[in-house]
Amino acid sequence: MNVLVVGGAGYIGSHCVRLLEKTGHTPIVFDNLRRGHADALPDTVTVIEGDLGDYGLVHDVLIREEIEIVMHFAAYAYVGESMQDPLLYFENNTAKSIALLRAMKDAGVRKIVFSSSCTIFGDSSPSPLSESASPYPISAYGHTKAGFESLLDYCSKAYGFSAAIFRYFNASGAASSGEIGEDHSPETHLIPIAIQCALGQRKSLAIFGNDYDTPDGTCLRDYVHVDDISAAHVLAFPKLQEAGKIHIYNLGTEKPTSVLQIVTAVEKASARKVHYHIEPRRDGDVPAAYADSSKARNELGWQPQFPDIDSIVATAWRWHSRHPRGYRSDPDEAP
Ligand code: UD1
Repeated sequence: MNVLVVGGAGYIGSHCVRLLEKTGHTPIVFDNLRRGHADALPDTVTVIEGDLGDYGLVHDVLIREEIEIVMHFAAYAYVGESMQDPLLYFENNTAKSIALLRAMKDAGVRKIVFSSSCTIFGDSSPSPLSESASPYPISAYGHTKAGFESLLDYCSKAYGFSAAIFRYFNASGAASSGEIGEDHSPETHLIPIAIQCALGQRKSLAIFGNDYDTPDGTCLRDYVHVDDISAAHVLAFPKLQEAGKIHIYNLGTEKPTSVLQIVTAVEKASARKVHYHIEPRRDGDVPAAYADSSKARNELGWQPQFPDIDSIVATAWRWHSRHPRGYRSDPDEAP
């Protein structure tokens, strides 16, 4: 199938593009390349550089490339930044995404896979979080994701859109080949930062709080491999055949992992020391967030290939140690 991957040069999008090619689909990437990386994409793929909010361009591409399914990964995703500049987030993640939906509607393309996030739950419900937990976002970023989920629901009823919505827990890891991986600027996520400490690029990892009501006092998260996330997207294609239906899945390995356990996993993968110190809690962090993904397992036959944190961190280490400056690294540059 011809799949328009909006935001396909980003972290999760670029992994999904490779899987689409591997499974016999034809991905066409649509990305403004402001936060994504052209180098994350295989040479075989068509890349259209453009803005999500450019109704005319998106509409043309949908028709010209005979698109059947749109995958929408193009979102800004920094919780802190969303609180400092909410307009940027609502403009990009909401307003421009509405232009995408309008272009889809007018072009007669009504199948969409949407990247949502567990962040929509805020701290309202205890983990494990299943799809029946109520959304209660506590950041502007979370609101943009929850709002777009609702919008898709209305679009399904009004215009017959069919959608698969995936709420990722903590997307992590990198392609097993070591060729592509995570490269954010600035980097705020735990695993890449801990790896930067192991590589000597940072002196010490700041652990945000060790006084939570968790087994070791640090926050618990559910780290799920980026290739497992991609697999779920492709498995959902048959679900999109029925017009007017929305399918929502929480994607995680269902295993809570603490910040200190991540330190240990990085030390193990790298055979190096990760120095850390304790800092105050970070605003907006919930003590624990992990998934109940039984719906994805039962309905889609989804089975994470990286079910434990050591296997996830090993792939992240392979990527970062071979590309210490991300996509700006020289080939085979090693620390
Ligand atoms: C959050 C969202 C996730 C979203 C992501 C977008 C929740 C539960 N998760 O991930 O859905 O996709 O933002 O960016 O809302 N930490 C440190 N030191 C650091 C960095 C992180 O101690 O330098 C800790 C954090 O306090 C947290 C854990 O590590 O407990 C993971 O943090 P991070 O990698 O930033 O992801 P989340 O904030 O959990």
